[in-house]
Amino acid sequence: MGARCGSKVSKMHPPVVFCLFLLLNLELSICTQLTVIPGSALELPCISLPTDFTGSPATWKFNGEIMGNLTSQPSGSISVKKNGLILSISPVSAAHSGKYECSVKEHNMEISSTYDIKVIAANAFTVKITEGQSGHLPCYFPCSSQVTANALWFKETTQLVLEDDSEEIFLEDIPMSENDRRVERLYPLDKDQTIILRDAVPTDAGMYYCKSAEGEILSIVQTIIEDAPTDAPHPCSGFDVPWETCLDENSRTNGPMLQESMTEFSMALYTFLRQSKPSGNLLVSPISIAGALSHLLLGARGDTRKAVERAIRVAHDFHCVHLEMRKLRNKMAGSLEMASQIFYSPQMNLSDSFTTQSIQFYEAEPARLLETSENNTEMINNWVANKTNNKITNLVDSVSPNTQLMVLNAVSFNGLWKVKFGQKSRKGVFTKLNGDLVNVPILYHQKYTLVMTHNDLLRAQVARFALSGENSLYILLPYSRTAADLQRVEQRMTDTAVKQMIAQMATMSPQHVEVTLPRIKLDVQSDINILIKKLGLSSLFEDANLCGLNPEERLVLDDARHKAFLALTEQGVEAGAVTSMSFSRSFPSFSALRPFILLLWSDQANVPLFIGRVTEP
Ligand SMILES: *[C@@H]1O[C@H](CO)[C@@H](O)[C@H](O)[C@H]1NC(C)=O
Ligand SMILES: *[C@@H]1O[C@H](CO)[C@@H](O)[C@H](O)[C@H]1NC(C)=O
Ligand SMILES: *[C@@H]1O[C@H](CO)[C@@H](O)[C@H](O)[C@H]1NC(C)=O
Repeated sequence: MGARCGSKVSKMHPPVVFCLFLLLNLELSICTQLTVIPGSALELPCISLPTDFTGSPATWKFNGEIMGNLTSQPSGSISVKKNGLILSISPVSAAHSGKYECSVKEHNMEISSTYDIKVIAANAFTVKITEGQSGHLPCYFPCSSQVTANALWFKETTQLVLEDDSEEIFLEDIPMSENDRRVERLYPLDKDQTIILRDAVPTDAGMYYCKSAEGEILSIVQTIIEDAPTDAPHPCSGFDVPWETCLDENSRTNGPMLQESMTEFSMALYTFLRQSKPSGNLLVSPISIAGALSHLLLGARGDTRKAVERAIRVAHDFHCVHLEMRKLRNKMAGSLEMASQIFYSPQMNLSDSFTTQSIQFYEAEPARLLETSENNTEMINNWVANKTNNKITNLVDSVSPNTQLMVLNAVSFNGLWKVKFGQKSRKGVFTKLNGDLVNVPILYHQKYTLVMTHNDLLRAQVARFALSGENSLYILLPYSRTAADLQRVEQRMTDTAVKQMIAQMATMSPQHVEVTLPRIKLDVQSDINILIKKLGLSSLFEDANLCGLNPEERLVLDDARHKAFLALTEQGVEAGAVTSMSFSRSFPSFSALRPFILLLWSDQANVPLFIGRVTEP
């Protein structure tokens, strides 16, 4: 949601004028330095007007030049009023930036005034929030900028000037503190500096300004607080219906549609992840996150349902999504085992239709949480360990007594190399991003059979390692070990580019290659709370409509976790792990003894299973 780099934003043009330096010049009756936004209307008085003023017409200069042809009939956007004593500009555009001087003669005396007008190109938004609810006030740094400090937010406030009863406008700092989370930055130190305003009250209405630390105005948000409905209906009324039946169960397009969605979702997820962690190892299983979100979708209604559908990139009202998830899971079974579960509070009732459909589509019969936090921690961790083949044993340290609901999804992958590596233990030297060398155990083969290519679109050397159960491990090796080259590959890894790469390599013949891969073991926990917000699901943290699951109350998400494990061994790839490669002079070589990106792909189901980056083997 909201404006992203490269996408359109809708703008409004409020008639806003404000004096950035007003506080310093409170003794002046008018402000002389004005910052205005394009599209607004501006009226510049030459002098304070006594009603009986009879002097000669005023002369206006713009950047030192006398402005001719000023009439009270607007020609273009500039006109005058009251015998030239008021210069009116409407609508304001960038060309109107500059210095305006006006002078007028009266009783042998000349009075003049000067204005500095700065027209800024900030984004302007209008946001409507219902009283008591929360809303987002958008603000974005330009796409090209490096974010080193958070933007600052101000609210326009008026203050009565006692002398003449007029109102002065000034900007008041909006405090954001850890203790009072009513106003909070959603993504600290991100290009997206949007804030959330919770529990809106009528006095929150007004103009908000987001400025960079250097003082540049990034956005102006007109906030309107609407009255809360006086007679709030039951939170789930109208929403407690079961998920719709899939009518065209055998449609041939459903499967490919879900594959497209999963690939698009996976690449979007990796983009958010790499942006939030620009260096260091990464590993995430998009299929597992999508599995948890689609299970949640089964119980989501209203706006929450729409948001989850958008997040996992499925069309709204693709009623067959759950059936297709089941088909996808069954297709991958054998190499990727996926399990889902829902634990819920003993004080809560789940709707019968949700329980039935959860069993039908996710083979998950929701289970009640136990009495104590210790019991729940043990139960959850045991479930996770069991479903990941003991690869992940410690997902949670504790389960809060406030927990109402836990949605779990676990995947366990096992693929054997089609071409085995030698059993002899060897060592190689991995060059890190910063040039440091580390000794690592390696997998080595002098004449490995694989498909290898230089992909110019992705700017990487790519090798495809065939695995049992119709899976492949793709390793994308940037042209050098530098961070810039790694980031370039990552930026180019769109879903389209990746699908093209996979389709192209499917047509190529394998060749004999000397291969060296680091024998790595990745164990990575990612902060997916931010990722979930980035996917457009921040509303889950505020008010999740899961009325299809629990028809009695609304819930909020308070923590999300993701741990992934991936190991490359002599035998193959285990559950989300990576391998590396080496190069030779005698035959073409592929040596991944420097930072690389990996993509574990289900060829059977044609969807990504794991995506990761290795910079520290
Ligand atoms: C759950 O259902 C039981 C039996 O129908 C009912 O007595 C109880 O009040 C319900 N709990 C809640 C929280 O509504
Ligand atoms: C809860 O934990 C306690 C202490 O570890 C144990 O004795 C008890 O059997 C557990 N209860 C359940 C239902 O697992
Ligand atoms: C998981 O639990 C099932 C049923 O209790 C058991 O048969 C299986 O061996 C367990 N798997 C692991 C990896 O512990």
